Amino acid sequence: MLEEISPLSFTFVTVIFLSIAISKYLRRPDVDSIPTVGPGGLLTSYWGALKFIFCAREMLQEGYANHKGMAFKIPGLFCWNVFLSGHKLVEEMRKAPEDHISVVERTSDILKPKYTLGPEIIHNPYHTPIILHQLTRSIAAKFPDMLDEIQTSFDDNIQLNGNEWTSVPAFGTVVKAMCRTSNRVLVGLPLCRDPDWNDLATGFALSVIKTAIIIDLFPNFMAPVVGTLLSSLPRSMRRGMKHLRPIIEERQKNLDEYGSDWDEKPSDLLSWLMDEAQGEERSAENLVKRMLAINFTAIHSSSMMFTQALYHLAENPQYVKPLREEVETIVEEEGWSKAALTKMRKVDSFMKETLRFDNFAFLSLPRKALKDFTFSNGIVVPAGCTVSVASMPTHYDSEIYENADVFNPFRFANEKQEGEQAWHQMVSTNADYLPFGHGRGSCPGRFFAASELKTMLAHIVVTYDIKFEDGAVRPTNITFGPASTPNMKAKLLFRKRVVE
Ligand code: HEM
Repeated sequence: MLEEISPLSFTFVTVIFLSIAISKYLRRPDVDSIPTVGPGGLLTSYWGALKFIFCAREMLQEGYANHKGMAFKIPGLFCWNVFLSGHKLVEEMRKAPEDHISVVERTSDILKPKYTLGPEIIHNPYHTPIILHQLTRSIAAKFPDMLDEIQTSFDDNIQLNGNEWTSVPAFGTVVKAMCRTSNRVLVGLPLCRDPDWNDLATGFALSVIKTAIIIDLFPNFMAPVVGTLLSSLPRSMRRGMKHLRPIIEERQKNLDEYGSDWDEKPSDLLSWLMDEAQGEERSAENLVKRMLAINFTAIHSSSMMFTQALYHLAENPQYVKPLREEVETIVEEEGWSKAALTKMRKVDSFMKETLRFDNFAFLSLPRKALKDFTFSNGIVVPAGCTVSVASMPTHYDSEIYENADVFNPFRFANEKQEGEQAWHQMVSTNADYLPFGHGRGSCPGRFFAASELKTMLAHIVVTYDIKFEDGAVRPTNITFGPASTPNMKAKLLFRKRVVE
């Protein structure tokens, strides 16, 4: 057996383990005062870190149960991960200055932008206010386009035969619809329907995540080698340039000739980026990189959440009728519009509950302490530790959400009927509802995402009947560390809605 191991692989494995051990030893900050969940000794902590990859949910739940409203820690391969819960600590953390508790540094650590998205995306996020303000403001005007793209993409991807049930891959169908719908507003027609652009946009997101996860398994000093070997950025850029460069050049020509307001200037995210880009960021290459990055943030989180919503709908057909009645009553009075969507409380609540119940991460507000940070109750998070909120146990706390481990799709719709307005909408964040983060760094695309998700849900319930294939039940989520995704291979049966 030993003879089968080549000297090269032996050296490689030894270097990896030594470097992990040294890196861990050198970077171990003093966090003794924070209680540990799982094994936490100098060597056993590696076991704790590995255990977290497979049992994150259970470990976070244990930490929350024993230290609710306080902090606990779980070892990572290269540093300690501190988790918080409770309004007081969450509010203190979100208000901490960036040079103490950093969003940027933690996002960089997670996404490895140098090898995945391009570092300027994280360090010069000029697209964030554009998404938060211009994109959000455009939702009402863009609503007819979004609805049209949702209708046509589901029509194109679910080939119905009379009233027969048709089997389709749930996630694959949703991701195509989400990609087209988002890109209708990001770059417009006809590119939003180009199969190669859609394939690039969806595939790019997956390759970013895969590359970042693999680089993370190695100590920092090995990142340049591993990252360069794995990076799909140059290849994706070549493909992206082929599609976007001619569009950018044409628009740039018009900008140079007529200024920022020429007749028939496209109103989409690419145009708004071109209006705001400064210096180097104006180059076609950097604009393409940013469009790929925005696609990365926009498509997969929304697609995962909508797939979860479809699984809930197929599992609980009794919820279809109240949703249909709500959508049809409002559309009959108002037609399809953003204003009509705002009135669909059950639709909003269904999506909000889906995000609470099946969020794609067990933790929220991932941050890195750049300096020792002391909370008002005396807890010190030493520089170098990561710190985040244990959101999954918060979302499953029955003291916060009645019968929290039951999927109750209209729980928020009922609360709203008691007179409160925006507070209960899915886009409102607070220390108990964290799928979009909370405060600085929270998702700027959530208003757009909510409109897409709710319009899709409204369209699906009035257009189709759906169920699982015979004998199939709701597939369990796939988890890896603190990430949780819906099963991406499961199929659903669709048929043209049979009107009772
Ligand atoms: C259901 C869908 C979505 C969910 C659950 C979601 C969730 C999140 C979360 C949790 C964060 C990080 C917050 C933090 O660190 O505190 C985030 C950041 C971000 N999201 Fe979303 N998101 C969704 C859809 C979108 C869409 C559609 C867009 C773009 C149109 C978008 C753009 C962004 C951007 C640009 C950031 C980075 C913000 C920054 O670093 O300042 N997201 N999102």
